[in-house]
Amino acid sequence: MKKGIFISFEGTDGAGKSTQIAFAEDYFKSRGYDVVMTREPGGTPIGEKLREILLDKSNSEMSSVTEMMIYSAARAQLVAEVIRPALEAGQVVICDRFVDSSIAYQAFGRGLGDAVSTVNSFAIGDSMPDLTVFLDLDPAIGRSRIGKTDMDRLEQEDIDFFYRVYNGYRELAEANPDRIASVNAAGTVDEVRAEIEAAFARILRRISDDE
Ligand code: TYD
Repeated sequence: MKKGIFISFEGTDGAGKSTQIAFAEDYFKSRGYDVVMTREPGGTPIGEKLREILLDKSNSEMSSVTEMMIYSAARAQLVAEVIRPALEAGQVVICDRFVDSSIAYQAFGRGLGDAVSTVNSFAIGDSMPDLTVFLDLDPAIGRSRIGKTDMDRLEQEDIDFFYRVYNGYRELAEANPDRIASVNAAGTVDEVRAEIEAAFARILRRISDDE
């Protein structure tokens, strides 16, 4: 069976992820691909319930280990119910956040270390993205771009937390240059879009070379 293409988007708050994900959908649809859009945490009925628990700011007593396991549980469900079947059907899956979010936020941000990869490799099996777009933006700039007042449980963290997350992403990108495309998200929307589309063109070329 033809395998599809799995793309994830990553970054800290305010890096412009939603805007660029919408362009990504257009990019593949306009080229005739069958595209499945999804997001984390969530993307399935069970996952959306877990998302509510994760983001509810009244859950201030949630331990870091509990948090990490709920993100992983939502991810296991998303892989089983949406991602794996779509890839087996040859579709393009575009996911707003995936396992790198857990490494950045829970391993680096919360300081849970290697346990996060271990739990997550059990949750996702061999379903790793073919390409991950990391929108690289200084978290302080991201925060000022959003200017939000009603913040969820994660958004309420202090700026030091977001710098740990950000540095985690940068380490991940450095360690996985073949999978992760770091894009300078400080540029204009069109500049960022062009850089991302160049990464899409590279992955499409690589896939057609492999066939
Ligand atoms: P969401 O509103 O989807 O944020 P964003 O628009 O920034 O993607 O909320 C998801 C939050 O959960 C976000 O703050 C990042 C965090 N998160 C983790 O901490 N670990 C994870 O594994 C995932 C997927 C998200």
